[in-house]
Amino acid sequence: MTTLVHTRADLAAARAAMPGTVAVVMTMGALHEGHRALLRAARERSDHLIATIFVNPLQFGPNEDFDRYPRTLDADLTVCAEAGVDLVFAPDRAEMYPSGEPMVRVNPGPLGERLEGASRPGFFHGVLTVVLKLLQVTRPHLAFFGEKDYQQLTLVRRMVRDLDVPVDIVGVPTVREPDGLALSSRNRYLAPAERQAALSLSAALRAGAEAAARGGDAEAAARAAFDSDTAKLDYLVLTGPDLGPAPAAGAGRMLVAAWVGSTRLIDNVAVEIASPT
Ligand code: PAF
Repeated sequence: MTTLVHTRADLAAARAAMPGTVAVVMTMGALHEGHRALLRAARERSDHLIATIFVNPLQFGPNEDFDRYPRTLDADLTVCAEAGVDLVFAPDRAEMYPSGEPMVRVNPGPLGERLEGASRPGFFHGVLTVVLKLLQVTRPHLAFFGEKDYQQLTLVRRMVRDLDVPVDIVGVPTVREPDGLALSSRNRYLAPAERQAALSLSAALRAGAEAAARGGDAEAAARAAFDSDTAKLDYLVLTGPDLGPAPAAGAGRMLVAAWVGSTRLIDNVAVEIASPT
């Protein structure tokens, strides 16, 4: 049975009655197959599973989609029940931020200013602040995050290491539509032609990964595969797995962000970089 709580007090009472391994999956709702994969992975590795649903105002810029972000609590609760979630914590803004906007926030450091952070100032301060707060109130042994938001996953890992937060962070592979589109709550904003244009992101990553594996120029190949007539590229980069510089050979990551109409989409893949031929 899935229990829904809205307050920290009810969460604390329910959490106190959870012996064994506790896992958390944090979400902003609008749950899709990608979230189901997170919940499945978390369910398999825990005795008790908590999901949080909170559209965090701190991580939206003034011109971003906070107001129109989909809020689908009833449908989300059905997904949680089907996935075997024991407890859903769905606080409102005042419950999460009782003193208003928090004065003290987690500083993500230089990595928080690059890639997503360059286009979305303050975004990772907002993400890490709410993630830390949700870790404090749910006190899980394991927390699961999607690789789809790879920079977020990397920064959350770094935060728990740097700040000695006692939790294991587990990354879960991105779920894709059969044609390659990475699942995202924002895909529902896309009109049919935009949905088609959005395939540029995964196509570019595929081309980049293939080029890297042949010892070719991954970024050039990825840019060539990106259709800039229908989508506007923000960044497309090859990095190391920790988002540092790409190694000459070995494991790397390729990341892309682009605007399709008024919707900003991101995607990334693991790449194996062969020495240049
Ligand atoms: O990935 C998300 O949905 C959000 O950034 C998170 C981790 C729930 C924090 O608000």
